[in-house]
Amino acid sequence: MNPDLSINFAGIKFKNPVFTASGTFGYGYELKDLIPLKKLGGIVTKTITLKPRSGNLQPRIAEVASGMLNTIGLQNMGVKVFVEEPLKKLIKIGVPVIVSIAGATINEYVETVKILGVQNGISAVELNLSCPNLKKKIVCHDLPLMQNVIKDVKKVSKVPVIAKLSPLVTDISELALVAQNAGADGVTLANTYPAMAIDVKAFKPRLSTIKGGMSGACVKPMSVRCVYDAYKNIKVPIIGCGGIMTGEDAVEFMLAGARVVSVGSASLVSPKSLVNIIDEFENILKEKNIKSAEEIIGLLNKN
Ligand SMILES: Cc1cc2nc3c(=O)[nH]c(=O)nc-3n(C[C@H](O)[C@H](O)[C@H](O)COP(=O)(O)O)c2cc1C
Repeated sequence: MNPDLSINFAGIKFKNPVFTASGTFGYGYELKDLIPLKKLGGIVTKTITLKPRSGNLQPRIAEVASGMLNTIGLQNMGVKVFVEEPLKKLIKIGVPVIVSIAGATINEYVETVKILGVQNGISAVELNLSCPNLKKKIVCHDLPLMQNVIKDVKKVSKVPVIAKLSPLVTDISELALVAQNAGADGVTLANTYPAMAIDVKAFKPRLSTIKGGMSGACVKPMSVRCVYDAYKNIKVPIIGCGGIMTGEDAVEFMLAGARVVSVGSASLVSPKSLVNIIDEFENILKEKNIKSAEEIIGLLNKN
């Protein structure tokens, strides 16, 4: 018998635990001719803001050993345009949609959620509290600000609110606890790792903003550690994220305590990665004779 891959996350049922990670899969529907989108557990959109943003100057991407740096700078069409055609097309796919949002102020987060709120079909919102590419401070590095963003968004949101946190903190489990206590229904661990790379031929930084966020296979052990530490400290569910390239990687995050996972850079290597990860994940459960994906969550982290 095939294992049951479905997972309950913050009261929402997902048919499997493999989601797209924000910003690495466009608005979600554009890849419909490349992969069977219906197979995905969930689709997390690129981060949407109140006003359109053109993002940072090029170069915005640099490949590094076993990973990449990016400094996209939240390029997006703005929420008002997004809720028209793109969101409607996305919802039609029939896969739960999690809309990632960010703002430069608390009010921008709240207004964006209010505009999204009139749309039926969104399963959750993910608050990007951790973008390392804005000139202003990373929101979750300012605890009172982070708490207020979560509290105020919770007041207006009709759907669960997930807080996506930065891994660049002394103790991620403390940060996750603060997010939970402010009302977050789940946390995503983690966003990219602030990093830089230099073109030694040109004696120039490889990114226009000098520093950017590191992602891909090279960050996986650090993000698994974040999940492992936070799982002990919080009750709300975790989306594990960072360096997931294979089904085995997804299992690893779930053993450490993630309820579901989101996959970013692997989709940039090949959009088919997500489908392969789901198939590989299922095969591992079969080989281990595990009946339900829920059984492995936090298995390595139970005491
Ligand atoms: C090109 C690129 C764009 C990204 N844009 C966003 C974004 O808009 N919002 C966000 O929360 N995270 C963004 N991220 C971070 C990813 O969602 C994810 O947290 C990170 O890449 C780690 O996962 P990975 O190693 O599987 O890529 C972006 C990452 C990349 C590589």
